[in-house]
Amino acid sequence: MAVVEGDVQLYSLEQVKIHDGKSDPKVWIVYKDIVYDVTSYLDDHPGGGDLITEYAGKDCTKGFDDFGHSSDAKKMLKQYKIGEIIQEERKGKKKNANVKTSSDTGKSPIKLAPKEKTEIRSCLNIITCGLCG
Ligand code: HEM
Repeated sequence: MAVVEGDVQLYSLEQVKIHDGKSDPKVWIVYKDIVYDVTSYLDDHPGGGDLITEYAGKDCTKGFDDFGHSSDAKKMLKQYKIGEIIQEERKGKKKNANVKTSSDTGKSPIKLAPKEKTEIRSCLNIITCGLCG
């Protein structure tokens, strides 16, 4: 059974796999950790249904992005959303929210010129001497 978190239905990759359009008539795909039931869209796809069924029950993120779909295509996807992948199996796993690295904040770490480093060292020396003395 799928887990429900808030209003969102959560599925494991194993559960998505069942809906491969063969053993099960439904075609589910995963795009960026979101699960879509695109069964009713197959006949309307400008690239043909086969291109989508190739990814039935699987993650289609690379295939979908490699084609370079328009923003309209991405908007269309939304109406087929049925849930999300469970946290443990997400590709874009969230890191510990409390630990922020410079890559999370988008700010580069402070870089000091050699002269500035020497000045800071001198300051630290004075503080240390003050404590010792
Ligand atoms: C699952 C993997 C998918 C692959 C590999 C794929 C591939 C392609 C290809 C090759 C075309 C070009 C067709 C042509 O010009 O003859 C195309 C067009 C298009 N596809 Fe897909 N597609 C996929 C899934 C989807 C899905 C799920 C949607 C929407 C729900 C979608 C929406 C569209 C739209 C709207 C176009 C027209 C061009 C555009 O607006 O980008 N596709 N696709």
